[in-house]
Order: sequence, then C-alpha cells, then structure tokens
Amino acid sequence: MPSPELSTRLLDLALDVARAGGELALHERPDDLVTDTKSSPTDVVTEMDRATEELLVSRILAQRPDDGILGEEGGERAGSSGIRWVLDPIDGTTNYLYGLPIWAVSVAAECDGVVVAGVVEAPALGRRYLAARGFGAWEERGGQRRRLSASSGTSLAEALVSTGFAYSAERRARQAEDLRGVAPLVRDIRRLGAASIDLAWVGAGYVDAYFESGLHAWDVAAGGLIAEEAGAVVELLPSSLDGGDITLATAPGIHEALSDVLCGLVDST
Ligand code: IPD
Repeated sequence: MPSPELSTRLLDLALDVARAGGELALHERPDDLVTDTKSSPTDVVTEMDRATEELLVSRILAQRPDDGILGEEGGERAGSSGIRWVLDPIDGTTNYLYGLPIWAVSVAAECDGVVVAGVVEAPALGRRYLAARGFGAWEERGGQRRRLSASSGTSLAEALVSTGFAYSAERRARQAEDLRGVAPLVRDIRRLGAASIDLAWVGAGYVDAYFESGLHAWDVAAGGLIAEEAGAVVELLPSSLDGGDITLATAPGIHEALSDVLCGLVDST
C-alpha cells in the first residue's frame, strides 16, 4: 500500500486529469462526431474517445513520467515506478454518441497491481465520484461533497439491480439468458450504459447491485474502488461466457443472495 501522502497525490492527479478530460469530452464534442468500430460493428470508438485518452495520458506523464499506462483506446506503456494508470476516456461511448448524459471519464491509479485511487467524472450529469483506498468514497454534486455509503437493503426481492451487455451479439444473447434468471427475483432492472457509473452508483446507493460479465480492467478500476470504499461488496464470479468473469458489486445485505443466484445460473448451463 502506498503512504497516505502518495495516495493523496495520486487522487489529486486523478481528479485533475479526469476533470480536464471531462471538460474536453463535454465541450469539444463536434455535432458530426467521427466514429470507427473496434471488436464488432456495434463497438464504436469516437474521435473524442481518442482525443480524451491522449489528453489524460499526456497530463499524467507530464507529472509522473515513470508511471505505466493502460488505456481503453490503446494507450499501453510499461512504467518503472510501480504505479500504473488505468483509463477509460469515455465509458459509455454509445450513450455519448447518442447524446445521452450517462457517460464518464474513468481514471484509476494502481500501486503494485492494486487500485488505490479512482475518479469517475460524469460531466453531463454534473457529478463526480472519487475514492482512495482506506479513506472512503465521495460524490461531488452541485458544489456539495457527500460521503458515500452503499444501501442498507437486505431483501433481494426489493433490490434495484443494474447490468450491462457486451458488444458481441453472441455474448449478449448469453447475458440476456442470465438476465432472464435474475429479473423475476428483484424489484427491477436498469441498463445505464456505463459500467463505471453503475459501480459508483452501487456505492452511492442509487442502485442496490450491479453485475456484468466480460468487463475490462478500465471499465472496473475506478468505479470498483468507489463501490468498495462505500461499503459495497465487489467480487468476480465465474461466468458462462468464455473468457469473462462476472463482476458483481452489491450492497452487503444482498450480496450472498445475488451471488448464489448468479452462481446457480452458471452451474445450470
Ligand atoms: C462499455 C460500457 C457499458 C458496458 C460495456 C462496456 P465503453 O464501455 O461500460 O455499460 O455494458 O460492457 O464495454 O465501451 O462505453 O467504454
């Protein structure tokens, strides 16, 4: 674990670069956004994803040239300091493309492979989420900062559960099957479209749980720490998707029940 001073410095830098990235993506979005596709025809990357990642990387390396980088849009660089930055420049690209406000710049700092600071900057929502390992998690909104605490719910039947889907049609069909098993057992389902916000919102108590299979490190790094620091239980479960664990984040009181349901679905496939 880094010293408290280093954790503070990493969180401050994460805040600084996430804010700058958020401003760029929010204010410089052209009306005729140029797009390209990645793993499938529906897996879109925009010119703003790339421009935002470049901005994040250049700002981080200007301050900390010996750090490593893992960015969704290809920014991968080995470092020598033991610190690696895990970046999703625009998490929720499809929402961003359609002009929906649920997207975020996600910035996390790992120390020797453990996430120690994370920021989820959601400028179109006017909200920012931040956490440092061992120091708690906060939401900033309307000029106010409040400490986050996951919901105190204990009944799966009364839980609001969010989830997400992969870009591959085949994987999405499998995920839809899993959802069929969960939907009848809970209060309701949400599909927000940005994993980092799903996770931060488990921490904020806006949803009681979130699960999704096949996420990448950049989807989970910052939001997972925020959820954990808010008292949520975050774990990886085996999934029926090849090569993709289920990321599960829940309020503590429903963790066992939802984990049992998801593991039962996998066992029955
Ligand atoms: C996606 C979003 C989405 C989740 C997908 C992710 P991206 O990230 O977080 O909510 O369901 O699995 O890939 O592509 O918008 O950065």
